[in-house]
Amino acid sequence: MLGGLEWSPRKNLPDYMKKTAQSPSNIAFIKYWGKTDSKTRVPTNNSVSMCLSNVFSTCTVEFDEKYQQDDVNFIDEAVVKEKELKRIYQVIERVRAKAGIITKAKVVTKNNFPKAAGIASSASGLSAVSMATAGAAGLNLDKKELSKLSRLASGSACRSIPDGFVEWEAGNSPENSYAKTIFEPGWWKIADVIAVTDKKMKKISSTSGHKIADTSPFYKTRLAGIPDKIAKLKQAIKEKDFTAFGQILEQEALNMHAVCLTSTPAVIYWSGATMNIISTIVSAREENIVEAYFTIDAGSSVHVICQQQDAAKVTKLLQAVDGVTKIYSNQPGIGARFIENHLF
Ligand code: PMV
Repeated sequence: MLGGLEWSPRKNLPDYMKKTAQSPSNIAFIKYWGKTDSKTRVPTNNSVSMCLSNVFSTCTVEFDEKYQQDDVNFIDEAVVKEKELKRIYQVIERVRAKAGIITKAKVVTKNNFPKAAGIASSASGLSAVSMATAGAAGLNLDKKELSKLSRLASGSACRSIPDGFVEWEAGNSPENSYAKTIFEPGWWKIADVIAVTDKKMKKISSTSGHKIADTSPFYKTRLAGIPDKIAKLKQAIKEKDFTAFGQILEQEALNMHAVCLTSTPAVIYWSGATMNIISTIVSAREENIVEAYFTIDAGSSVHVICQQQDAAKVTKLLQAVDGVTKIYSNQPGIGARFIENHLF
């Protein structure tokens, strides 16, 4: 006994604690491809993205003495891979260690779009899990700390924490690698019309792709050009110069995929439908039908960036493309936040 209190090495949570977070997916205009440290997901280069208004994940976490073990559940997902579950268990462990608790947790998570189809489900999913878990454990983390916590679970997830247009500063250590808002969501009325091409799981994970990025003979050249590209992209956003912005983001997508295609082994994300969309968008631009530009993440789906006034026109064009299965139209959105409606 010490002053009437029994010493205990670790404390359990005083009360039942439950939090729900909702977090958007994001689209990278300047891509994150390659890491300096795989374990802590410190990237080789800065990246710039936008939070999406209509594709998001919701996650409820509850720490309670009544749970004998951690329990993770996905709503509406037929296939959940072992490694996806592992990443969530790791988030719980990380948060428990930070909060100094031993209480077990129940996690329920849900996406409002298909997983692994080129919309960053790991970004929205793992940022929502990180925020809800930290909140439920009673940790009062600011956006910078939440961004770093999310990055440990999935690199691009760190960009789903801040609002609007976001830059992830690569930094040179786990402590200074996090994302922040560079322009608020309302700054510019642009849209991301996502054309989903294939509901099947992609074959090559981005984690595997990052690991072999430096086997491409073009990788070093890509990295050398990034600071200048980011400066020009930010200037285009600042000036709302849509043509300059579109040209940079489209070249950048092709640049990243050139690295993917020339890695050993080759990382090929595109399908026939991807090419159909690319040619539709390029022709529409050349024929002055609509000014839109494409970008593609680690999947076959295509993100078509246009001005909001043209989103309906772009949607119509995409609906007619062979191989397009679903379309999600987005505006710049806010980042992760707590909501009141729990999933259980
Ligand atoms: O966060 P990850 O490991 O899923 O990597 C994301 C990689 C890209 O989507 C291709 C680019 C990016 O910056 O989001």
